[in-house]
Amino acid sequence: EKGGYEHFMLKEIFEQPKSVHDTMRGRLLVDEGIIKMAGIWDHIEKFKNANRIIIIACGTSWHAGLIGEYLIEEYARIPVEVEYASEFRYRNPIITDKDVVIAISQSGETADTMAALKLAKEKGAFIYGICNVVDSSIARITDAGSYTHAGPEIGVASTKAFTAQLTILTLIAFKLGKHNGNLGNAEFMSLISELEAIPKKIEEVLNTTHELTQNIAKDFINATNFLYLGRGYNYPAALEGALKLKEISYIHAEGYPAAEMKHGPIALIDENMPIVIIAPKKGHYDKIVSNVQEIKARKGKVIAVVNKGDEQVSAMADYVIEIPVTSECFSPIVASVPLQLLAYYIAVYRGANVDQPRNLAKSVTVE
Ligand code: M6R
Repeated sequence: EKGGYEHFMLKEIFEQPKSVHDTMRGRLLVDEGIIKMAGIWDHIEKFKNANRIIIIACGTSWHAGLIGEYLIEEYARIPVEVEYASEFRYRNPIITDKDVVIAISQSGETADTMAALKLAKEKGAFIYGICNVVDSSIARITDAGSYTHAGPEIGVASTKAFTAQLTILTLIAFKLGKHNGNLGNAEFMSLISELEAIPKKIEEVLNTTHELTQNIAKDFINATNFLYLGRGYNYPAALEGALKLKEISYIHAEGYPAAEMKHGPIALIDENMPIVIIAPKKGHYDKIVSNVQEIKARKGKVIAVVNKGDEQVSAMADYVIEIPVTSECFSPIVASVPLQLLAYYIAVYRGANVDQPRNLAKSVTVE
């Protein structure tokens, strides 16, 4: 049932061209120039009149939520807040019936997310679910929602569910933006055609980085720390890259917005510190170039995720992972794939049980 792969995690990483496609199936209708999502459309007034959207989630799903914030604010211009479900539920949050609360959960069973939703519901908010598991508890208590349709995810480390969540959030942002007039037709059309081609780009990245990430992984099996840096849409992608590494390889890893480096983490950088930096051309590239210069001046080992044909960052980096060029909003989907592979191979070479990491459960049904 692992389809010839050594672990579910690797199988699920490789399923992403298909799972992202499945997430868009029947929803993204490029020829007709529309995004069809009944869950949104049936409640469009709620979204249109919302004072703000609050996204609640845990772990990887929370990282997807952060990217959702960038997407929805950029394209639909609706204010978004993203909260850890566990913090939200215990801090007496201000919630009104003018709020839309979106819960993101692969399993649909996460205890904190469920409890936070119940609280929001009690206070009269409209609650929307983005779940992978059909008919799960969260899917059942929400007023409406969209399933990610990524298929069963068995590996404890979330991979294909994450990229499916990003795909749904992208669809929601574009749909809301188109509807409320913040996203003009020409830009909408060009974005949706680009989105349709993302599965192909994931496929390409899998082919071009599979061997490369194995080779890079071999050089880091004895590392004790990692930093992951990114800016804009790729800041949450850096958080997610770090989470993947720590949960399956047990190497300590931290994700940071690249500019925050000089407010603390830079003190950690020396020749023993590997730094994964996500540096696509369309995301504050010049700023990232100076971040890499600062790291190299301190002899940090740079593993850079860059666009094909990149020169400046590549010239300074110790290891270069190329990904195809995309609009900035799609880059976390594509950039996450080699980071999943890198974490996977580092863990495998360290002899860790990647599908069932110690101390972790696939769904966290206790708080
Ligand atoms: O099922 P959920 O999406 O609600 O799960 C949330 C987290 O427990 C989950 O993403 C966890 O962080 C994963 N192990 C990450 O790979």
